[in-house]
Amino acid sequence: MRKIARTITTLAVAARRRLRRVPRPPSVQATSPAGTPEAIAREHLARAGALKSQGDNRAAEAAYRAAFELDPYLVEAHDGLARLRWPGPDYLAWLAHLHAIRRPPVYLEIGVATGRTLALAQPPTRAIGVDPAPMIDSEFTAETHLYRETSDRFFRENRSEWHRQ
Ligand SMILES: C[S@@+](CC[C@H](N)C(=O)[O-])C[C@H]1O[C@@H](n2cnc3c(N)ncnc32)[C@H](O)[C@@H]1O
Repeated sequence: MRKIARTITTLAVAARRRLRRVPRPPSVQATSPAGTPEAIAREHLARAGALKSQGDNRAAEAAYRAAFELDPYLVEAHDGLARLRWPGPDYLAWLAHLHAIRRPPVYLEIGVATGRTLALAQPPTRAIGVDPAPMIDSEFTAETHLYRETSDRFFRENRSEWHRQ
């Protein structure tokens, strides 16, 4: 049980970090009119991608930074810079790998969104997802329990106790 609690804590911390990501306000469109900061930011983003493919990582980093300085909501620029600085498999690949090698009896995820990470759990793992507004578009192969509520409520109501093994 202590192992499960440790796993849950680690995953909860990771989920909380993800929750801090600022959502793009609906008013800012991916196709902004030419000359606006958002459009120029996208140009920097495209340039960053090109520089990265040419192997000029320093210039690519500067271009990513120029992009999100103009448009702090340009998630692709943050993502591009993160991938540039920390190359290798992303968190989805790591999570899938952890499921494959640990095969935990229980996997708790706070902040499910589309369910793409929750869906990485495989039998015999029992997956538990908590999200007040999930938008599931994934298929679950493991036994999955979805709680449509905040994590505060989930823990306050002691729901995790229902899954104690
Ligand atoms: C960044 S998304 C999760 C992404 C998903 N885990 C993934 O990696 O694809 C954040 C999710 O957290 C949910 N959320 C926001 N506040 C929450 C809370 N207090 N408790 C649980 N989930 C919450 C949102 O509804 C949203 O679906």
